[in-house]
Amino acid sequence: MELDLIVKGGTVVTGNDIYRADVGVAGGKVAALGVDLGTTPRIVNALGKYVLPGAIDVHTHLEMPFMGTYTADDFRTGTAAAAAGGITTVVDWAIQEPGESLFATLEKWDKKAAGKTVIDYSFHVVLTDLSRNALDEIKDVVRNGIGSFKCFMAYKGTPLMQTDSNLFRIMRRVRDAGALFCVHAENGDIIDVLVREYVAQGRLAPIYHADTRPPEVEAEATARAIALAEIARCPLLMVHLSAKEALQKVREARDRGLPIHAETCPHYLSLHYEELERPDFEGAKFVCSPPLRRRDNTPHLWSGLREENLQEISSDHCAFNWKLQKELGRDSFANIPNGIAGIETMIPVVFSEGVRGGRLTLNQFVRLTSTNSARLFGLYPEKGTIAVGSDADLVVFDPDRKVTVTRELLHQNVDHTPYEGFSVTGWPAVTISRGEVVFENGQIVGRPGRGRFVKRRATTSV
Ligand code: URP
Ligand code: ZN
Ligand code: ZN
Repeated sequence: MELDLIVKGGTVVTGNDIYRADVGVAGGKVAALGVDLGTTPRIVNALGKYVLPGAIDVHTHLEMPFMGTYTADDFRTGTAAAAAGGITTVVDWAIQEPGESLFATLEKWDKKAAGKTVIDYSFHVVLTDLSRNALDEIKDVVRNGIGSFKCFMAYKGTPLMQTDSNLFRIMRRVRDAGALFCVHAENGDIIDVLVREYVAQGRLAPIYHADTRPPEVEAEATARAIALAEIARCPLLMVHLSAKEALQKVREARDRGLPIHAETCPHYLSLHYEELERPDFEGAKFVCSPPLRRRDNTPHLWSGLREENLQEISSDHCAFNWKLQKELGRDSFANIPNGIAGIETMIPVVFSEGVRGGRLTLNQFVRLTSTNSARLFGLYPEKGTIAVGSDADLVVFDPDRKVTVTRELLHQNVDHTPYEGFSVTGWPAVTISRGEVVFENGQIVGRPGRGRFVKRRATTSV
């Protein structure tokens, strides 16, 4: 067979295996694994490096309207930065505007992405309004290759926050469609009371964002979502789980055999509560929901990942510039757009803190950043592994490269990185998407618009 490209001399790492092999690519697919694969027009040198399946980031917010502004990365800059960070597929949250049909929401998100993406992409649907026939649309949305939905239990006073009855009604339809329901679990009512009290008392600095969202509000909502899902018999995934108390609820549910899954994010593994105390409003860069937790929380998350009670890591990339966007909340934390920029740093940070830090094995790292997400979100085995017939979404990863992260090094379209000055060991050298090199020598070389929309199967098998 004629190959288009060979990744030569590297160590292939999948969710289960580690072995020395060259990877031959033809027609955008992995076509051969072995040695002496012949010659091709293009050889990518992977000597001394790992060859990983491209990471899958199932939690991004690109060009998303939120808290009176839009996220700073769109599908062009966000997917370019993702490619530079070793990610080859993103699944973005398409948010239903009240009164809109779910298909209109998806069309809107299609338009945002069309002609812009450097890597492959898909969407999930976030439901905010059931007043028209959104519930009836769910099964048709699933038939069109969108197998996951989400609701928010937080952000009271916006259309995002849903009542328990709506959550329950949606869960039953999602279950009937064979799809996966995801939830942002924080008790929005309690947060609202606390925020009003803090604001009335003049406690307005960024740190109070965290103090008004204590771990218990996450744990309570997590337990409630699990209870609703159990009654509805619906598979559930807790997005961006941050607190050990919430993890314990997931663990108990999984121990009972319930199909409950959970995600965490790199910032909960590497950044902490005290970042929010930085002076001169710098703490605003770290305002996200759920908030960064105290240091003694983090080992519990690593344990959860090792046990795979937390099954996947995604970025929750929700970038807002510090100037003009985070500054909307200079007078009160309640107005700081919530979100952290992290799509490009996710893989180096998790590798460095996880594998280099002795907290994860290499295979666990691949499962948590690629294979499990592909399985949970209906992309496996085309994506999430390196096997003959799978998409040639590959990352040549240098496990020894030491990098001090700076804003200037990154391709994200945002005026800061929360990881400024953070040291990591391990960095992507080359990213390949369906057989095409899209990132090498520190440069994005993939053409915007080459990324394809990927239809996903409804499946929840991890
Ligand atoms: O702070 C965050 N996470 N912002 C993005 C919206 C969300 O809740 O995921
Ligand atoms: Zn959220
Ligand atoms: Zn999010």
